[in-house]
Amino acid sequence: MRTLLFAVICLLAAFPAPAQTPPSAPVQPRRLGLCAACHGPTGHASLPGVPNLAGQQLAYLRDALHQYRDGSRDVPLMRAAIGPLSEAELDALARWYSVQTPQPQS
Ligand code: HEC
Repeated sequence: MRTLLFAVICLLAAFPAPAQTPPSAPVQPRRLGLCAACHGPTGHASLPGVPNLAGQQLAYLRDALHQYRDGSRDVPLMRAAIGPLSEAELDALARWYSVQTPQPQS
């Protein structure tokens, strides 16, 4: 009995429950890697001249992405970056960045 109990405790320790994510937090978008190279995974830009996106308003991010796509913001770099993405994927990315917490500049 003791051995069994010990085995169960070991199993529980080896496979802890996954960290709870708050229900409002979106899951990390599948295509985040495409954007993270410049904007960072949490919207803190890793390159000079690249805007931070963390905590920006969702509607603003959606609009900006549409403007790059339709050319009213004529930035070939951003148009190329979002080129292969579907509307749903862009929306997931905008949501992701909008719920990140902005950090002070280092
Ligand atoms: C090669 C670097 C690079 C990649 C990759 C990239 N971006 Fe950008 N992004 C930029 C730069 C530079 C700007 C500023 C462009 C401008 O002057 O409008 C920008 C601007 C933006 C803006 C507007 C921000 C604002 O404050 O107006 C959004 C939103 C954005 N990017 C989202 C994304 C998303 C989503 C992806 C991934 C699909 C992505 N970017 C990939 C470089 C990049």
